[in-house]
Amino acid sequence: MLVTGLRLHSYRSYDELRFQPSEKLNVIVGANAAGKTNVLEAIHLPAVGRSFRTRRDQELIKLGSAGAYVGIDLISRGARRRIEFKLREGGRQVLVDGEPIRRSGELIGILNCVLFSPEDLSLVKDSPEERRRFMDMELCQLRPVFYYRLSQYNAALRQRGALLRRAIEEGAAPDEGMLDMWDDRLTELGGDIMLLRRDFMDELSTLARDVNKRITGGREELFAFYKPNVPFPDGGDVRTALNEALFRSRQEDIRRGFTTRGPHRDDIGILLDEHDVRVYGSQGQQRTAALSLKLSEIALMRSEKGEAPVLLLDDVLSELDHDRQRELLTSAFDCQCFLTATSLEGLEELDDMTVFECADGTLTRV
Ligand SMILES: Nc1ncnc2c1ncn2[C@@H]1O[C@H](COP(=O)(O)OP(=O)(O)O)[C@@H](O)[C@H]1O
Ligand SMILES: [Mg+2]
Repeated sequence: MLVTGLRLHSYRSYDELRFQPSEKLNVIVGANAAGKTNVLEAIHLPAVGRSFRTRRDQELIKLGSAGAYVGIDLISRGARRRIEFKLREGGRQVLVDGEPIRRSGELIGILNCVLFSPEDLSLVKDSPEERRRFMDMELCQLRPVFYYRLSQYNAALRQRGALLRRAIEEGAAPDEGMLDMWDDRLTELGGDIMLLRRDFMDELSTLARDVNKRITGGREELFAFYKPNVPFPDGGDVRTALNEALFRSRQEDIRRGFTTRGPHRDDIGILLDEHDVRVYGSQGQQRTAALSLKLSEIALMRSEKGEAPVLLLDDVLSELDHDRQRELLTSAFDCQCFLTATSLEGLEELDDMTVFECADGTLTRV
């Protein structure tokens, strides 16, 4: 997986940018707010079809401009591809190899990216939402079916929520028949989401345990696992469990005006030597656990896709001590890598590194 060119027009802080990265390690160095993350964000766009920083395309359009353009040339599974985004206030157009696509899901699988930012290091401490995002960002890329189920589930969830809120506003009971219908829909979609998340975490956990052993010199045993909001037995029927949970919580949902149970409230559990790292781990252990999980994502992507993903490291090196930095860069050895930093300090000894200076709305190779 290689990004061979990036072109931006009226995107975020950029008027016009043409960027030809190297196949190995690209270091983008510049002051705060120079526009480094904006570049990584644009490269990441095709991976899941939207920005990792916002749901609103409008924010990506340079202030004062009517629309933005992002064009990415890449080599995926040996083939040259071009993905283009034309973002306008009223909507977006996405083209693959010059042809408009109808659903953004058609993008999935063309470019695989693993993004690593400082927030990922606080994954253990953060809210469940961040940990769901951690699972979903990779699952959406690995399993197109997951991408579709998740967006359909979220749409159904919004509809059920609207029904519940409307009933509260009107002071009347919601239509039970409508609720039955939404429950069935959530059950069907949510069941798939839960099974895919469980399988993903099972695979990832084995990898993460080995990585954590390596980083900690074999001292600690890491165990990461899927923690569904609605538990279901191994080999048991996930749909029955979910449908019953929705039904049992219906009165509470009606009272509170939202859906209290379901995979939109899932979490990941992380144990170190059988103790919850979130509660008992030191800050160092928590960060190492997070790093192990992230590195396993790279390994999983590589083995599933038969090709190394593009690695985006946003301001993360300065957050790690020297050994952890080594560990990360070793895991990235065969990935094309885009790394942002505010200085080159500590990067001097890296091989195959091409440095780009980010300033004054442009990138200059130095
Ligand atoms: N839609 C936009 N239009 C114009 N400028 C923007 C837009 N979105 C973000 N910016 C600018 O981009 C800069 C931040 O870029 P970013 O890539 O996050 O910086 P950093 O180099 O710190 O990673 C800020 O100066 C911000 O004002
Ligand atoms: Mg940044």
